[in-house]
Amino acid sequence: MLSVDLSGRLAFTTASSRGIGFGVARVLARAGADVVLLSRNEENLRKAREKIKAESDVEVSYIAADLTKREDLERTVEELGDIGEPDVFFFSTGGPKPGYFMEMGMGDWEEAVDLLLYPAVYLTKALVPAMERRGFGRIVYSTSVAIREPIPNIALSNVVRISMAGLVRTLAKELGPKGITVNGIMPGIIETERMIQLARDRARREGKSVEEALRDYTRPVPLGRLGKPEEIGYLVAFIASDLGSYINGAMIPVDGGRLSSVF
Ligand SMILES: NC(=O)c1ccc[n+]([C@@H]2O[C@H](COP(=O)([O-])OP(=O)(O)OC[C@H]3O[C@@H](n4cnc5c(N)ncnc54)[C@H](OP(=O)(O)O)[C@@H]3O)[C@@H](O)[C@H]2O)c1
Repeated sequence: MLSVDLSGRLAFTTASSRGIGFGVARVLARAGADVVLLSRNEENLRKAREKIKAESDVEVSYIAADLTKREDLERTVEELGDIGEPDVFFFSTGGPKPGYFMEMGMGDWEEAVDLLLYPAVYLTKALVPAMERRGFGRIVYSTSVAIREPIPNIALSNVVRISMAGLVRTLAKELGPKGITVNGIMPGIIETERMIQLARDRARREGKSVEEALRDYTRPVPLGRLGKPEEIGYLVAFIASDLGSYINGAMIPVDGGRLSSVF
């Protein structure tokens, strides 16, 4: 019987103490991979580790680091060196500052690049040499459907995240011959703490209940509901497994059908 089996693999997942990153780490662990978590807050990391250990008999380590800090990125690579050589690299990060284009200063643009692009590039450069040596690697960057259909009020995300699609295509060509696949996922609206907070803010601004604000988010989704973080994880696990061996250079939406364009 076919199965998504990641036993014997080591997966490094960033922004993974909560939300999408946690959902992905949890599913990779359920599929048998040892996982390394990363986020800023050690308490969040400890709780995430406990939750994963409670349901999966795998090794779970964590690194407390801020992806926007260069010194933390250097230390992350050092600490990873003591843990092992990841076969799977799932990159996600915190959300950039919301707002319209004219509200964003040049400093906001620099911060968005430091959050959304720089750490992905830095960590990829650090992880690829070991993947090349072993002739195997799976890299998956999480972005957003906003790169296909810009979402109002998140100008930084709409613009800067598109660079990740360029990174995916570039690396798919450069690293494919070395046995490393590189893909991107575009989550739609996923039920996370951050998403619920956005719904609360919207409800306050528009004078409606949180339930109504959540209904506004789900209305354009044909499946009629928000996604679960684990539903991003199922795709990452598939791509990371032997079953995903021919998926390379793809940008895949996981959005319940929300994107309405044909391509
Ligand atoms: N939820 C959605 O509907 C959705 C859809 C498309 C795209 N996205 C994007 O996906 C990403 C994750 O969203 P989410 O909803 O899962 O958010 P979330 O629930 O707030 O979780 C964010 C995770 O990232 C960690 N984190 C935040 N900033 C960090 C930093 N500078 N360095 C290291 N770790 C950091 C947080 O842990 P600590 O606080 O401990 O650092 C937490 O584990 C965001 O970029 C968001 O814009 C979300």
